[in-house]
Amino acid sequence: MTHETGNGASAPVSLPEWRRLEAHRETLAGHSLTDLFATDTARAERLAVTAAGLHLDFSKQRLTPEIVGSLAALARARGLPAAITALFAGEPVNRSENRAAWHVALRAGETAPQAVRDVLAEMTAFVDAVRGGEWHGFNGDPVTDVVNIGIGGSDLGPRLAHAALAPPAARPRVHFAANVDPAELDDLLAGLDPAATLFVVASKSFTTAETMANARAARAWLAAAGAACEGLARHFVAVSAHPERAEAFGCARCFGFWDWVGGRFSLWSAVGLPVALGLGMPVFRELLAGARAMDDHFREAPVEDNLPALLALVGIWNRNFLGYSGQVTVPYAQRLALLPEWQQQLEMESNGKAVTPAGHVVSVATVPQVWGGVGTNAQHAFFQMLHQAPEGLPVDFVLPLPVAGGDERERQRVANCLAQAEALMRGRGDDELRHALAADGLDGEALEVAVAQRRCPGDRPSSTLLIPALDARSLGALLAAYEHKVYVQGVIWGINSFDQWGVELGKTLAGRIEAELAGKPAAAEHDASTAALLARVKAAMTSG
Ligand code: F6P
Repeated sequence: MTHETGNGASAPVSLPEWRRLEAHRETLAGHSLTDLFATDTARAERLAVTAAGLHLDFSKQRLTPEIVGSLAALARARGLPAAITALFAGEPVNRSENRAAWHVALRAGETAPQAVRDVLAEMTAFVDAVRGGEWHGFNGDPVTDVVNIGIGGSDLGPRLAHAALAPPAARPRVHFAANVDPAELDDLLAGLDPAATLFVVASKSFTTAETMANARAARAWLAAAGAACEGLARHFVAVSAHPERAEAFGCARCFGFWDWVGGRFSLWSAVGLPVALGLGMPVFRELLAGARAMDDHFREAPVEDNLPALLALVGIWNRNFLGYSGQVTVPYAQRLALLPEWQQQLEMESNGKAVTPAGHVVSVATVPQVWGGVGTNAQHAFFQMLHQAPEGLPVDFVLPLPVAGGDERERQRVANCLAQAEALMRGRGDDELRHALAADGLDGEALEVAVAQRRCPGDRPSSTLLIPALDARSLGALLAAYEHKVYVQGVIWGINSFDQWGVELGKTLAGRIEAELAGKPAAAEHDASTAALLARVKAAMTSG
């Protein structure tokens, strides 16, 4: 039986817990973050939590411990504890598709379903064969390069994990091609040896247009290099919930997963194969273990001490009560540069919705715009906006702790992260500026103009997430924390985080337009703008 969660209950705004939070907002108005630190000397400890090795400090958010208590009460009123139980029990929490979203089962270790353990065993044998040189290409060469062809959830998770964890000397080299723009795959293939390249075609559906087009292009590249039939099949393995389609394509092997694994939650399934091929199965199992540690915490910890739930509740506070339209993530680690992109799909494809599973329009704002960039580069790109634009946006700073023996760059990496969070909160006030500018010799109107331009209002919220080390275990815990954040927010907003009907329309229309570009008659009329653009595109295609 499905637990009734917030997803099915009445609108969140009708709850007394919601109104209490609105009252908190009024009480908080006029109190700056620096005031809050001054009045509560234990604030930094009270608004922080450690779980699965990660430490989340959310004391620089514009809230108080009382507000956190009220947010937790809201989560309970929306049925969060039962929703967590339902998630872990594999109940059909994906209501519109009537299936589970059981990604936690993929990383449940000894207690995972037998089918999951069987695929992990198949992956282990295959990974060992490739890495040991026993799996070879059409002319007997061992595999030196692996190319993962997939998009969305079949790309972002493994691409991020590989970038985060692979040392430069890791072999085989692992590459990723997602974009249907030939520039990505063709540029990559130009530097590879066909006889020593293995393609992993990752697609849950095995019908995604971009992935199939890239897989066909890869097959043509191999055929042009002399691979034929049997030999060619050894260069293709699939990861899919539809093995029959992979076989029809001509893949030598297919590593399965199931309809209860959502694409953007699929890293933990055989979709993680490229990570395992590049780094070995023990590293992939560590990634699963890290996620499992976060799962255990998420399932057991009370809401007030629950790291993923707190990430979610801070987000709810910022979005629904303080009115922020965006959420920025800035990892201070080059190897985590892809984190914001991964998080974008996770959060916006999951919670970019406006209708409850029962078909009612939700009465509150749902997902903010999720974006970000890597520190310190981002400081020289969009931080100006964070410091001085009228609205500002909440930031998640993600900081792997420094490695012992690092040089000045390592100190700068860490110092910049801490400094940005402090600067956003403290700002730079007029008195301090006047003093400094007067010391530089400015006075009168020139001084006032200079003060106005340099003023940073401060009071801009952020959280800092410390990671003990950039290793597989910590990464697993980090990604699982964000996954659970998304689920908690979906429960509170009353939406299904596990479907994605909105992306279907664009896919259908792209198919029709592509058919037209291939010379077939138009299936339907276009609006005047699209028709005019199409005419220009067709002219470009036919001109010399
Ligand atoms: O963007 C829509 C989507 O369905 C995602 O949810 C999914 O991760 C991606 O396309 C790729 O789908 P598939 O793995 O079936 O190729």
